[in-house]
Amino acid sequence: MLIVCECFSTKQREFNARIGAVRAQTTATASPAVNRSAPEGKKTLRQGCVVVTGASSGLGLATAKALAETGKWHVIMACRDFLKAERAAKSAGMAKGSYTVMHLDLASLDSVRQFVESFRRSGRPLDVLVCNAAVYQPTAKEPTFTADGFELSVGTNHLGHFLLSRLLMDDLQKSDYPSKRLIIVGSITGNTNTLAGNVPPKANLGDMRGLAGGLNGLNSSAMIDGGDFDGAKAYKDSKVCNMLTMQEFHRRYHEETGITFASLYPGCIATTGLFREHIPLFRLLFPPFQKYITKGYVSEDEAGKRLAQVAADPSLTKSGVYWSWNKDSASFENQLSQEASDADKARKVWEVSEKLVGLA
Ligand SMILES: NC(=O)c1ccc[n+]([C@@H]2O[C@H](COP(=O)([O-])OP(=O)(O)OC[C@H]3O[C@@H](n4cnc5c(N)ncnc54)[C@H](OP(=O)(O)O)[C@@H]3O)[C@@H](O)[C@H]2O)c1
Repeated sequence: MLIVCECFSTKQREFNARIGAVRAQTTATASPAVNRSAPEGKKTLRQGCVVVTGASSGLGLATAKALAETGKWHVIMACRDFLKAERAAKSAGMAKGSYTVMHLDLASLDSVRQFVESFRRSGRPLDVLVCNAAVYQPTAKEPTFTADGFELSVGTNHLGHFLLSRLLMDDLQKSDYPSKRLIIVGSITGNTNTLAGNVPPKANLGDMRGLAGGLNGLNSSAMIDGGDFDGAKAYKDSKVCNMLTMQEFHRRYHEETGITFASLYPGCIATTGLFREHIPLFRLLFPPFQKYITKGYVSEDEAGKRLAQVAADPSLTKSGVYWSWNKDSASFENQLSQEASDADKARKVWEVSEKLVGLA
């Protein structure tokens, strides 16, 4: 145990040197993932395996790069566009052999199941899963739907990831890695206890009648709360589901499995493809507005380092936490809004979602 802790603190220093200092906490357990055949009796950790969804651009790509270049992680880039992901990895300068691109379309439950099968066939262990991919349709007038008929934003960002992480729990539990993690990327925009979260339309799951009805826009609303379709709200609602799901995972599994469940707001990465469907004027003005007015802007590189910390830094092992960063880029445990931390809503999102994805 002590040796592994020492190994972790050395790793922590190396990690912090590479990707920036973070607040210290401690947790580590002895594990066969420690390679005892290293020279001079030194114990080293085997290379970890991390799956990052939506690693073909923006935050996911920057995170994949930050983890891969430590040499301590093999990154599975779980992406819907194989060629785009390969090109992105190359142009980001990721070393061949440090990553594998595997096909995953979160807007299809069949594709999620196929990804899990392919991942298992690869024979790699699963040590960390990062649920990062998302779509945002702020200007859509009408809803569009996933292959299974769910409104696209909630279907992709929440239901696709919900099925993926539920199926991969078995694999995470089997891993012998000392710090196994499931990270689900959240957002300030789903938190109505913030200024950004109060910009209309605000997130609100209501009584979840639309979710219970399957979000299909036919015999139920395409919106979780049963209201009229609003693409920006659908995205914010999906992020509330992401943050509630992380907490429900924590309540159900942390004590029994030791897996760390966490979420985060990486900062406003105003330049990513997330805003691709916004009007051109918005895309032009949003980055300088975030840089010079709100000062909430972070670069893709910096945000990638933050998510990499939450995924792998030995000092960020606390479970059930929603991480944020202050102006000095130091991490802290942030408060979620009342709705995004409502345990009854989290249980209901979990129970309804497992019916929708065919787990119950
Ligand atoms: N940008 C911000 O300011 C900000 C702030 C807070 C939180 N976030 C969160 O950060 C995460 C990443 O967003 P980003 O800003 O990096 O946006 P991005 O550059 O658009 O990246 C989104 C990724 O998700 C992938 N994706 C979309 N639909 C998918 C599907 N059906 N199956 C598989 N992958 C799919 C995209 O793939 P393609 O490359 O094929 O399109 C892309 O790789 C999201 O969870 C977002 O909510 C972002």
